Amino acid sequence: MKILVATEKAFALVAINLIREVTDAAGHQLALLEDYKDVSELLTAVADADALIVRSDLVTPQVLEAAKKLKIVVRAGAGYDNLDLPACTAHKVVAMNTPGQNSNAVAELAFEMMLFQARGGFAGKSGSELRGKTLGLHAFGNVGKYMAEIAKGFGMVVFAFDPFVNEDVMKGAGIKACKNTEELYSKCQYISLHMPANDKTKKSIGYELLKKMPKGAVLVNTARKEVIDEEGLLKIFEERSDFRYLSDVEPDCKAVFDEKFKGRFIFTAKKMGAQTEEANINAGVAAARQIADFFKTGNEKFRLNK
Ligand code: 3PG
Repeated sequence: MKILVATEKAFALVAINLIREVTDAAGHQLALLEDYKDVSELLTAVADADALIVRSDLVTPQVLEAAKKLKIVVRAGAGYDNLDLPACTAHKVVAMNTPGQNSNAVAELAFEMMLFQARGGFAGKSGSELRGKTLGLHAFGNVGKYMAEIAKGFGMVVFAFDPFVNEDVMKGAGIKACKNTEELYSKCQYISLHMPANDKTKKSIGYELLKKMPKGAVLVNTARKEVIDEEGLLKIFEERSDFRYLSDVEPDCKAVFDEKFKGRFIFTAKKMGAQTEEANINAGVAAARQIADFFKTGNEKFRLNK
């Protein structure tokens, strides 16, 4: 079988070498399309692929139409908003993700941004510390759990809200459960977002919630830019000079931030959360193993389009 790794943002070489070990051992052929600039390159490369590994690359009906032999696509990562699941099903393509594999890297990036911001970008002026500050985790999945662990190490007071996670799980992780978003946002100076982007969550973080945050508010977004209601975010920035926004990926309204709010935000130019060798290895190898196992035994454990 031909397994294509198509990544507009390439994996580290060490991860590719380990992915190749898995595909070689299983008797499959590995093809690479890295750092591609135009979707036409993907459409050509995918034409004879039996399996596809992607990151945030869009798997659209057009891609699936071009992939005449495709049987399985694995998103090497957690969020699968880039996969058109109904189109995968229509093309009889099994779609999977690799949950948890890059979560620590994302949590570390959230803290890296928080620390850099708290120390004023290392520019020499007095900053602030994380110890004793409140951190609210909006959603408590794999990344949220790593966040809690790191935050406790820093001596932060950690709260979480997640409608899909039992309070006992949060208590077991040594953090406090909030009953709703209102409670979480009013209690926490730092809020870190960890929900997926879907119809329910898109544009769900807006003015009404953000205005509840206490003085010195810092919103940290290593989830997706789409979960933010950018109009509401700009409104709170206009009203409150204490408000900060740290985001892994620029918002659509970046030009306004550049013009009006210098020093009050950090935006990564390219999504950096999962850009570590370790995360590339974990997610890439997991994807390759899931594909090899699917072809060998039919295992569909991480299937998304059931
Ligand atoms: C994920 O959903 O797994 C992360 O956002 C990582 O995305 P990336 O593979 O595009 O870096």
